[in-house]
Amino acid sequence: MLQNKRILLGVCGGISAYKSVDLVSRLKKAGAEVQVVMTEAATHFVTPLTFQTMSNNVVHVEMFNQLSNMNVEHISLAKWADCIVIAPATANTMAKLAYGIADNMLSTVALAARSPILLAPAMNTGMLRAEATQKSLAILSARSGVEILPTGSGLLACQDVGEGKMAEPKEILSYIDRALTKKTLQDVEITITAGPTLERIDPVRFVSNHSSGKMGYALAKAAADRGAKVHLISGPSRLEAPVGVDFIPVESTEEMFRAVESLFSRTRVLIKAAAPSDFKPAHYTEEKIKKRESGEMAIALRPNPDIAKHFGAIKGDRVIVGFAAESHNMRTYAEKKLKEKNFNFIVANNITEKDAGFRADTNRVEIFFSDGKAESLPIMDKSALAEIILDKVEQELES
Ligand code: PMT
Repeated sequence: MLQNKRILLGVCGGISAYKSVDLVSRLKKAGAEVQVVMTEAATHFVTPLTFQTMSNNVVHVEMFNQLSNMNVEHISLAKWADCIVIAPATANTMAKLAYGIADNMLSTVALAARSPILLAPAMNTGMLRAEATQKSLAILSARSGVEILPTGSGLLACQDVGEGKMAEPKEILSYIDRALTKKTLQDVEITITAGPTLERIDPVRFVSNHSSGKMGYALAKAAADRGAKVHLISGPSRLEAPVGVDFIPVESTEEMFRAVESLFSRTRVLIKAAAPSDFKPAHYTEEKIKKRESGEMAIALRPNPDIAKHFGAIKGDRVIVGFAAESHNMRTYAEKKLKEKNFNFIVANNITEKDAGFRADTNRVEIFFSDGKAESLPIMDKSALAEIILDKVEQELES
C-alpha cells in the first residue's frame, strides 16, 4: 500500500526519536518516499545525518535557509506529502498544533498541511496526564484529518513506569497504511474467521491444525484499512490483532460458531478463512490420560458443526466467502463446497504446495465463483491476496 507514497516524518525532541530511524527504514522498505523535518530539540537526540542517510533525502530543520529553488519550503513540503506523521510528538509540539502556533519548520508545515496528520505522542506520564496536554489532545483529536495514536505503558526513559511510550514503528506503519487507503468499505460490517480451532482431549492434549491465522488477519487488516467495521473471530494464534478491529478470541469450533451467530444479524459480509476442526473428542477427560503399558489407544471423535454450511443456508442478501484447503482434485472439491455452503465465491488453496496454504506468508489460489467462472492467481503475499479478495467482495456487494 505504501509503494510510491510520499510520507513526511516530523521528529520532535524526545528519546524515542531513535525509534523513528527504524520507522524510516520500514517506510523505505515498503516502497515509500520519505522526507524528514526535525525540530531543533530533536537534533540533540538523533543527528539529521542519520535521518538523511536513512531517507536518502535532505533533512529539514531550519526555517530560514537560503532558498535553493524558488519554492517556499514549508508550503512545498506540505503540498508534497500524502501523509504527515509526527513521531515522537511532544507535548510542546502538540500544544503548538492545537493552537496553530507556527514557529519552526515542523509546526509551520503541519499548519499548511492538506494531507492526513498522524501524531504518535511520547512523553513522561505526568506530562501526558497534565491538563494542558489533555486539552491539546482533545482539540487535535476533534480536528478532521488528525489522528492520535495510542501510547503504550511500561518503563519510561525517566525511570517512571506508566503511560507515555511511543507506539512501535510497526504499529505506526499500520496506521499510515490505514490513513492512506481509500475508504471503499466505509462502515460495512464484516465478520472474518481466522486461525485454527482447538479441541481439548484432556488438560494437556488437544486436536488442532496448522493454521497460523495469517490469511484471516491479513483480510481483517485490509478490510479495516478500507473503513469496514471488522469483527475478527480467531482461534488460538500468535499474531497481534490488526489496528482498529473488534477482536474476538475463541478456542473451539463450537465457540467460533456461537461468536459468528452473535454477530450474524449485523454482518453484511462473512469471510470464512479459519480452519475449524471438523471433529472433536467425544468426551473431555478431566484428568490427564495416563500412558498404557498395553500400547495402542483410540480416541473417539464426533463431528463439530459446519459453521459455513449453517450460515450459508440462512444467508439472505449477505456476501459469504469461503476458503477451501485441498490437497488434490482442487476444482472438484472447491466447487462442491461452493454449492453446499452457498458461498458467493470460494478461494481454494493447495495445502501441499510450498509457500501456500497453512503458515506461509504467501499463498497461491484459484477462485471459483457461483456463476461458474474461475480465476487462477499467481503466488503472492497474503496481504496482496487479501486486497484482491476484498476487491471481489466489493464487486459482489455492488451486483
Ligand atoms: O491461517 P493460515 O496459516 O494463514 O492458513 C490459511 C488457511 C490455509 C487456513 C486458509 O487459507 C484456508 O484455506 N482456510 C480454510 C481451511 C478449511 O477449513 O478448509 P475446508 O475445506 O475444511 O473448509 C471449507 C470452508 O468451510 C472454509 O471456509 C472453512 O472455514 C469452513 N468450515 C469448515 C469446517 C467447519 N466445521 N466449519 C466451517 O465453517
